[in-house]
Amino acid sequence: MALTSPWAPSSDVEAALRLDFRSDTITQPTPAMREAMRSAEVGDDVFGEDPSINALELESARLFEKEAGLFVASGTQGNLLALLSLTRPGDELIAEASSHIANSEVGGAARLGGLTLRALAGRHGKLSPEQVAATVRPENVHYARTTLLAIENTHNAGGGTILAPDDVEALTRTARERGLKVHVDGARIFNAAVALDVRPAVLARNADTLTFCLSKGLSAPVGSVLVGSTSVIGEARRYRKMVGGGMRQAGVLAAAGLLALKEGVERLAEDHRRARNLAEGLARIGGVQIDLATVQTNIVRFDVSGLGRTAASFAEALRERGLRVSGGAGPGGVRMVAHRHIDDAAVDEALEAIARLRP
Ligand SMILES: Cc1ncc(COP(=O)(O)O)c(C=O)c1O
Repeated sequence: MALTSPWAPSSDVEAALRLDFRSDTITQPTPAMREAMRSAEVGDDVFGEDPSINALELESARLFEKEAGLFVASGTQGNLLALLSLTRPGDELIAEASSHIANSEVGGAARLGGLTLRALAGRHGKLSPEQVAATVRPENVHYARTTLLAIENTHNAGGGTILAPDDVEALTRTARERGLKVHVDGARIFNAAVALDVRPAVLARNADTLTFCLSKGLSAPVGSVLVGSTSVIGEARRYRKMVGGGMRQAGVLAAAGLLALKEGVERLAEDHRRARNLAEGLARIGGVQIDLATVQTNIVRFDVSGLGRTAASFAEALRERGLRVSGGAGPGGVRMVAHRHIDDAAVDEALEAIARLRP
């Protein structure tokens, strides 16, 4: 039997992802990324000597009109470093109740940042300035100091929903007026920018820091970037070292990240179009409950209780037909995400398979 190189891109692996709607995080690096990784110039990044990482950090800062950038292992690490750099232990952080920071980052804000979390329920992930204003604690000897607002754009649990520039502006103004700093969890900020047709920097305006992910819809294999002022990023660089994120010759990863920024952003519009087609098709299937207003980017959330199924039994039935989806909120909540490996025919096949699950 002929042995294939373990480094060669496997078209079989990529083909298997055609019907894998679980997440945009499953995307494989493009052939161009693999080539860029192979030939990347690298150095010791802890010494600041990795040219590929330096280029990625510079480009990220430029895109978001911030002074500096920091390459980090993941979105979770970027968010954590922002919280550590912008607060002091014992402070209080405001975040939306279903946000990634509040739910899916292993309680790092509390365990590692010593922060109390005030989780506010938003509408499809969106907090109002009034909610934020009413939550900030006044100066009082009994109270923790409320010092940071975290906003998520696009909002994953909200359904990939977008905070438009006016929403960001209203929230950051309210926070600033009360002396709060602002961090944007922009894991999918490019999805928001492409859907709104605005420069990404517009969505970071007045925020102290923003994290974006290279390894979701943009298809890079690993990594995120935190952007902000030189002084905050300097702090974050120290905390990155503290949590073991000084990655040395990680320019092999940054090289893929640079291509992700160059070639991956415009393409996100295709994912949005396919997610929309998927959502509209789902809305026509009796028993599927979906709020089309929440389908604004590449994420589609819906409920299958009306098909007489739990999300788990729905996912299992689809899996038998070669299709993969993930669970969402509540027993019948399902999430499907469009990404680079999913084409128009895959959306049609998914809709056909789901329609067959009607009782
Ligand atoms: C909104 C949001 N923020 C942060 C993250 C964390 O990213 P990572 O998985 O790279 O840690 C995710 C991951 O799905 C996310 O959806």
